[in-house]
Amino acid sequence: MSNKLWEKNFEVNAEIERFTVGRDREMDRYLAKYDVLGSMAHITMLQSIGLLEKDELTQLLAALGNIYKTCEEGQFVIEEGVEDVHSQVELMLTRKLGDMGKKIHSGRSRNDQVLVDLRLFIRQQLMEVVEDVNTLFDELIRKSNHYKDVMIPGYTHLQIAMPSSFGLWFGAYAESLVDDMLFLQAAYRMTNRNPLGSAAGYGSSFPLNRSLTTELLGFDSMDYNVVYAQMGRGKTERNVAFAMATVAGTLAKLAFDACLFNCQNFGFVKLPKECTTGSSIMPHKKNPDVFELIRAKSNKLQALPQQVMLIMNNLPSGYFRDLQIIKEIFLPAFDELKDCLQMCAYIINRMEVDEHILDNPIYDPIFSVEEVNNLAVAGMPFRDAYKRVGLEIEAGTFKANKDIHHTHEGSLGNLCNDQIRALMKRTLGEFNFEKVRRAEKSLLKQAIPDTPKASL
Ligand code: ARG
Repeated sequence: MSNKLWEKNFEVNAEIERFTVGRDREMDRYLAKYDVLGSMAHITMLQSIGLLEKDELTQLLAALGNIYKTCEEGQFVIEEGVEDVHSQVELMLTRKLGDMGKKIHSGRSRNDQVLVDLRLFIRQQLMEVVEDVNTLFDELIRKSNHYKDVMIPGYTHLQIAMPSSFGLWFGAYAESLVDDMLFLQAAYRMTNRNPLGSAAGYGSSFPLNRSLTTELLGFDSMDYNVVYAQMGRGKTERNVAFAMATVAGTLAKLAFDACLFNCQNFGFVKLPKECTTGSSIMPHKKNPDVFELIRAKSNKLQALPQQVMLIMNNLPSGYFRDLQIIKEIFLPAFDELKDCLQMCAYIINRMEVDEHILDNPIYDPIFSVEEVNNLAVAGMPFRDAYKRVGLEIEAGTFKANKDIHHTHEGSLGNLCNDQIRALMKRTLGEFNFEKVRRAEKSLLKQAIPDTPKASL
């Protein structure tokens, strides 16, 4: 038996219903608690403009508070025959409060409801991603400082090139995350705007107070133009996916380096054996599957913006059901990214490094440039010095002088990790998570007055 908000005097064909709902109920479970939050703000606003009585608001908020708790406990279900999360919440309210429950949809559409749900969900997810990126950043800086003097060969063309160090290697990935954080911040800022009140995408004749819902939900501002607010569906996900892909790009590169450095032919790093996996046939195997999976999952995440883009790319303005499909690829991606970030920090923390790599004479040629530079400092023209050292290498008479002094910013002897840390700190300081948490907390307090602080 179907239970549709738009039900009239005919039943929808069961096959059409199966196909149009698809995986949407499953996806909407990600959004449930944000749908409830959005409704709390919407009805508070409706009461302020005279479309609900004070007493009705109190009862509706309390009922929404209970639904919110159900979501928090993981008990929220979208029943068979109920189309989506928006319909389920309204159904629960009307079951409990009768006609009062039916009043809450004045001045909104599921189009702006799903928009606001997504913004609130993405905002929360981005906060968590930012935290995980920062944890990995700290771990990389810690390792970089700890091994700042342990040298490794640097490569170009995968041929040994110049002296490098674990200080530089770990620190490079930390700095990469600083830039990725800028993308996350841009994505967060675009996300933290209120689309509610755009209704089906063209506003409403009710005198909606959009500034009030903006404030209640802790948004920085609103998407002002109602047509643009609806255009944000897909665009927001695409932009956020780009930011996620940027982070994933850093992880994938790090994972590949780690696999390479862990290979016996390199032997630069080692994973504790309990962090490796074995083979069913080769008894000696200790494989770095953890990095291989981080790499594959991160590469998959880098496809996300293209996938979102192809779904929304050629849609004109206005709502289309196509947009629903973005949820299937986009919503679960946050868990995957967070898992990779957390696992990366975990395994980097446990990674062991060989502190004597350059004792092996096969790496001696990486000191050739130092030799050329020394001759140049002593007055020989650079090109002549280059030639002389080159001939020594060819003749096998080159003697590596490993006493090298790189002192400029960002080099072997001057990692600038404090400066890199300061850049990260500045970006982190520009997020407004506290304000958002306060707003969500005080909105919930209206509905669940006795909520203990810890569970909010
Ligand atoms: N499940 C829909 C989506 O994600 C919700 C909005 C439905 N709106 C509509 N006009 N059919 O897009």
